[in-house]
Amino acid sequence: MRWPFAIRLLHWLSVGTFAIQIALSFGPMKGSGMASMLWLPSHISTGVLIFLLTVFRLVLRVCTRAPGRSPSLPARAAAALVQWCLYAFVLAVVITGWLAYRPMPLMSPARLFGSLPIPKAPSVAGLNARDFIALHSTLFWVLAALVAVHVLVAAMHAVLFRDGVMSGMLFRRSREAKAEDSGLAG
Ligand code: HEM
Ligand code: HEM
Repeated sequence: MRWPFAIRLLHWLSVGTFAIQIALSFGPMKGSGMASMLWLPSHISTGVLIFLLTVFRLVLRVCTRAPGRSPSLPARAAAALVQWCLYAFVLAVVITGWLAYRPMPLMSPARLFGSLPIPKAPSVAGLNARDFIALHSTLFWVLAALVAVHVLVAAMHAVLFRDGVMSGMLFRRSREAKAEDSGLAG
């Protein structure tokens, strides 16, 4: 059984935008202070795109049944935990990024996708922009660790278990998945 097409499409679009975001954050944004300012609007626009894709996915996801499989209860619980944590950490990284963004008083604020002004985040008592950048960065590293575990487990399903979990998220059918669907597997 595969995930519905819309979920698969949104998953791979999120993976692509997430990869672009990492390349931006550790590439041009890591230059001088000026380079980081220059690239911040692209960073924020990519972040907002990831946010929109994630919210759309979550809405679709709550109305969708996951592909029917029968793994053990602990395996099912571990997979659900990692997957819901992925959603939660993506949202937390975006929200703390927004709270960290404080345009300089005399500078025009960054524009989303080159046109829309970014709404000003509320200030939180006791926490300044520097604290939120630190939090944004820490949450990003937790998310990166979760993604690493997620990718490793997906690779194990594809290479070791060959149980159709990986092809359930792909666009091309594997032989195992075809056999599983026609009841020939196992
Ligand atoms: C999933 C989306 C996002 C990811 C993965 C991400 C990741 C990162 C990373 C890795 C850094 C570098 C942190 C460091 O230097 O230690 C960073 C910096 C930053 N991000 Fe994001 N970010 C995302 C979305 C956003 C959004 C939506 C905003 C604002 C609305 C934002 C605002 C910032 C700011 C202000 C900085 C600090 C830039 C500086 O060093 O001056 N981020 N982000
Ligand atoms: C090359 C990298 C990746 C691969 C190979 C991959 C593979 C997969 C596979 C096979 C599934 C289905 C699992 C199942 O049916 O139980 C899945 C689900 C999922 N993936 Fe990925 N993934 C990758 C990257 C990412 C990234 C970067 C994120 C988010 C930051 C992500 C978020 C999710 C979520 C939230 C689900 C759960 C599906 C749902 O409940 O909507 N994945 N992934």
